[in-house]
Amino acid sequence: MTTEPKTTMTVPPAKPAGPCAMVIFGAAGDLTKRLVVPALYNLTTGGLLPKEFALIGVDIADLTTDQWCQRLTDMMHSFLAGGGEFQPESINTDTWNSLLARTTYLRGDFGQEATYALLGELLQAAEQDHGTAGNVLFYLAIADRFFGPVAEKIAAADLADEQGGKRWRRVIVEKPFGHDVVSARALNAELLKVLDETQIFRIDHFLGKETVQSITAVRFANGFFEPIWNRDHIDHVQITVAETVGVERRGRFYEQTGALRDMVPNHLFQLLTMTAMEPPTGFDPDALRNRKADVLMAIPSVRPACAVRGQYGEGKVLGLPVRAYHHEPDVAADSPVETYVALKLEIDTWRWAGVPFYLRTGKTMSKRWTEIAIRLRGAPLSVFHGTGIAELAHNWLVFQIQPDEGISLQFQVKRPGQTVVLAPVKTSFAYKDWFPPEPNVGYETLIYDCMIGDATLFQSADMVEASWRIVQPVLDAWASETPADFPNYAGGSDGPAAADKLLADDGGRAWRPVGNHV
Ligand code: BG6
Repeated sequence: MTTEPKTTMTVPPAKPAGPCAMVIFGAAGDLTKRLVVPALYNLTTGGLLPKEFALIGVDIADLTTDQWCQRLTDMMHSFLAGGGEFQPESINTDTWNSLLARTTYLRGDFGQEATYALLGELLQAAEQDHGTAGNVLFYLAIADRFFGPVAEKIAAADLADEQGGKRWRRVIVEKPFGHDVVSARALNAELLKVLDETQIFRIDHFLGKETVQSITAVRFANGFFEPIWNRDHIDHVQITVAETVGVERRGRFYEQTGALRDMVPNHLFQLLTMTAMEPPTGFDPDALRNRKADVLMAIPSVRPACAVRGQYGEGKVLGLPVRAYHHEPDVAADSPVETYVALKLEIDTWRWAGVPFYLRTGKTMSKRWTEIAIRLRGAPLSVFHGTGIAELAHNWLVFQIQPDEGISLQFQVKRPGQTVVLAPVKTSFAYKDWFPPEPNVGYETLIYDCMIGDATLFQSADMVEASWRIVQPVLDAWASETPADFPNYAGGSDGPAAADKLLADDGGRAWRPVGNHV
């Protein structure tokens, strides 16, 4: 076994995806320039983008190909100054230009058939000029109200037809995938009318995060987790996604959405299913996704009494003053929309019966901090009679997702000295100590996987519907009752007192302080 950090370890050579074109609907939008195109650049530098590749951007904005390319180039250069998810040390001009040389912009209205006719011509040209072999990945980086209509128009223009397997046509659908159980079902039905389930790739960018993917790898590549991974040894699980940012410029979107819809049935449930899933029978997409779906199916819908909502007031985040949510741009002064949510979930399986899973997420909190913390059951009996040690601290196994990625185990030792005094310590593994940083905005693996037809990291229709079903009673209850106490947590704090009460009333438990390592 290696005991040295493997920063120099060679990884198997990358295998580029097969020939294809990629069409981005929403080419002039933020997501495209901040994440999707930087991800394509990283795939190019990593040798994972095929040589036979063409990129077509579609949007209503009045741009030429040159103008779109210039915008993208400006954006790439602005990343060098820092601040975005993409933080390159330099941009390789040859690589970047090689990507631009295969790029075309199509100005078009998503609602007009003419747009799709022109797109068909461009795709044929791409096949001839760049050898894309007729394979196409459509990326819907657009407002969710367009998902169904655009898919329908793609199909109506014969662009979704896979010609009996001679070529592939796949569609990446961004979030939000519906806004409740009814709309999610309707969207699935709309898409499935014109596409096959195998052509639909419902993206959740949390699954593009390296540490999220590694949860399953760590669990199933090591024997020592399995014996303790159950109700006999685990007291409860806490999943935290705390953000320091507020709603930024997204007030209008957020007023329609709120923290529960924005984060829980998608991102937090992904973390939950990876933690709670049964071992799959193999590592193929269906095996993994079915086991994750099983977890969601086994979670009863949450009773509103097991949910807490919060909204930030003014405060200080990382030393800087922040305004209250209801003073944010495009937000109503008396907005009832939650920016924080805490839930208690149960999983009705033999493995997890009686083990609560507590989930919380919020904006404008004290620290940017995402972790899955598993509290193990305490020692069966304290043997420290007469030592003054009244209570034993808890043992925690923590998967740290962001900002520092790693795994830690927290336990107690005897403090050196003549008297018996215990101290909590932790032993940790940090990704950055073992592996060189990879340029990654989180979309690379997802786009690559879609190109190679691997749906493991994408959500299936039943997973999406089950997720909405679980939170639906809370959505309904919150829509019908205006919260009386908003704002109920200060910006820069760890959330509302009611969330602490949720755990305290449930076996005297407490949240881990956000960002506290031990
Ligand atoms: C998005 C939400 O899906 O995820 C945002 O809409 C949130 O509100 C973001 O800030 C968090 O993602 P990340 O990768 O920054 O942790």
